[in-house]
Amino acid sequence: MININSQTKLYCIFGHPVIHSLSPLMHNFAFQKLNLNNLYLAFDVVDIKKATEAMKTLGIRGASVTVPHKIELLKYLDEIDPLVHKIGACNTIINRDGKLIGYNTDWYGAITPLKQIYTENLDQKKAVLLGAGGAARAVAFGLAQEKIPFVILNRTLDKAKQLAKESGAVNYGELKDFKKYQDFEIIINTTSLGLENHDEDKTPIEPKLILNKHLVFDIVYKPKMTKFLREAKKNGAKIIYGYKMLLYQAELQFKLFTGLDFTTNEVEKILVKSLFEN
Ligand code: ATR
Repeated sequence: MININSQTKLYCIFGHPVIHSLSPLMHNFAFQKLNLNNLYLAFDVVDIKKATEAMKTLGIRGASVTVPHKIELLKYLDEIDPLVHKIGACNTIINRDGKLIGYNTDWYGAITPLKQIYTENLDQKKAVLLGAGGAARAVAFGLAQEKIPFVILNRTLDKAKQLAKESGAVNYGELKDFKKYQDFEIIINTTSLGLENHDEDKTPIEPKLILNKHLVFDIVYKPKMTKFLREAKKNGAKIIYGYKMLLYQAELQFKLFTGLDFTTNEVEKILVKSLFEN
């Protein structure tokens, strides 16, 4: 345990609710691993404007930001990273000498696990992005950033069209159009289908369409093995668990907070334990 004293640097998460956030666990673990005199707390806040003012007043060094504040927050930042501008959402604030600078690390959370599988020539793969909501936006701009050609398929066609236009997707369509893109190797589910206690028995596309050449990434992280991933695995596809996005968005966030490495492999162990083994 660190010795909290007058030099302790404070970091936090702002959200509403924040009770289920795993960010305090991950960041505090890494702070302790690296022997830093830093502390990370969770603040359940309704008014994000006041929260940003509090950051300045109290000298809070950095903050993670989650639902429902990631979009409204943009109005209260002094500077924003170009990717935040494109994605339209900010999940990380750095307090640089009283100036609040906004970053987005969610896109990195989605791209890093892909890079671990395809260690080279990722830009020669093609991807199908399922969903066009908030999470899909970060993934879409991440794919665009990495120059991976992708299509966006969504239940509501208009939303797929809009996001495709903004992010530079090669095409868009409805979920049932997947068959047209069956030769695309990477499939990423950003819809909420498969989520525990919600749509757990549903999949965004028919599982029989998944082939053994596919890589399926389901960003739903609870349950660990969603129905979509289970069926994909049965068909011989490679799979990536949703918690990886959670882990890697925090990795980049930690780098922005401290300039140091996250001890990611060790953080992964405690994250998995806390999510799935309690
Ligand atoms: P998040 O911030 O988690 O991305 P969101 O912005 O509400 O949440 O987006 C949810 C995504 O899941 C959307 O793509 C949504 O499709 P619509 O744009 O048509 O609403 C998708 N989704 C949710 N429930 C769905 C369902 N029953 N069938 C198909 N897609 C669904």
